[in-house]
Amino acid sequence: MASLYHRARVMTCAGSGADPLGLITDGAVLCEGGRVVWVGPDEDADAASRALDVVVAERVDLGGRLLTPGLVDCHTHAVFAGDRSDEFAMRARGAGYLEIAKAGGGIAATLGPTRAATDADLERLTVDRLVAARATGTTTAEVKSGYDLTIAGEQRLLRVIARAGAQAGVAVVPTLLCHVIPPERKADRDVYVRELAEVLVPAVAAGGLATAVDIYCDDGAFTRDETATVLGAARGAGLAVKAHAGQFSDQGAAELCAELGALSVDHVEQVSDAGIAALAAAGTVAVMLPGACVQLRLPPPPVARLRAAGVPLAVASDLNPGSSYSSSLPLQMWMATTHFAMSVEEAWLGVTRVAARALGLSDRGMLAPGARADLVAWNAEHPAAIPYQYGANLVDRVLVA
Ligand code: NIG
Ligand code: FE
Repeated sequence: MASLYHRARVMTCAGSGADPLGLITDGAVLCEGGRVVWVGPDEDADAASRALDVVVAERVDLGGRLLTPGLVDCHTHAVFAGDRSDEFAMRARGAGYLEIAKAGGGIAATLGPTRAATDADLERLTVDRLVAARATGTTTAEVKSGYDLTIAGEQRLLRVIARAGAQAGVAVVPTLLCHVIPPERKADRDVYVRELAEVLVPAVAAGGLATAVDIYCDDGAFTRDETATVLGAARGAGLAVKAHAGQFSDQGAAELCAELGALSVDHVEQVSDAGIAALAAAGTVAVMLPGACVQLRLPPPPVARLRAAGVPLAVASDLNPGSSYSSSLPLQMWMATTHFAMSVEEAWLGVTRVAARALGLSDRGMLAPGARADLVAWNAEHPAAIPYQYGANLVDRVLVA
């Protein structure tokens, strides 16, 4: 039994050349068993369903609306408890993110409430955030651990993430994030890093709790050598790798990540020409996080240089309690196009096809036969409308698989 979504302006995100978004003005999408089986002009839909021997049980008339792949948020920290709105107010008065972190705020301020929260509380908080993300078009979200930072606690967060995704009706991709050295381990930092590499990473791999390991390589977080130790262990355990890098200073993580065949490096406000060349050669995605960048009043990443070198650019929410408390990808698209000087096409591909690539997923982020039937219909006709009318929720309906 198949469903036909027709009378739509279909944006496949599977185009190329002059038409990267792959627009079909009077288009239709045929789905069966949670997958897309055909995409094309409306007038060919009936012939296609006959040729494919598919019985169309449901016809959904989209009235000329824009129909796109479900959005993929490839970088979130959706599992946390506690409230840091006080830090937002302090920054609004001019305090810096690193200054607040050094005074006991920042990531460390979320550890206590998260560790103290029950599984049920964390699950409910995460489901609520994922449901909100879905309402603005997100159908797949990567969710990182990273707000417990003990060996057992990080594994607990990864289990909560998997359960929350199933409840929220959003496909989740759990990632182990080695975020910072927790305050109680500052004195035996080397031992902690060894535990990450020799105990936590292998346990996460053996338990199938995550498919990738992320680490924050920056001022106030992990050094380049520590990053190499942890990500090396992840590769050894058969996990994909990625890093938060160069938000405040360039520690050479882009070069290291490229060497390790990382899926992505994220933030990269600070990155050298050598780092950019290495990312391009490795095909590593650079994930732009404009919400965090704008909110922390940081200089934007070198988008023009990344583009010129051919580095694939994704755009994500960085949903987290410190620097970017929003799950809305349309809002990020607005900041990407206005503050980061990305084109509308780049912003769209950044939250669809390239975002899927940053997660190592090839079955979503575009509408093509075989892809997951994750679709969003928008109360809009043109792709530009979504960032253009920022702050408005133009979602008409969201379909997951
Ligand atoms: O991606 N940069 C590191 N982590 C988050 C911020 C986390 C927090 O402040 O709680 C980020 O921006
Ligand atoms: Fe982040």
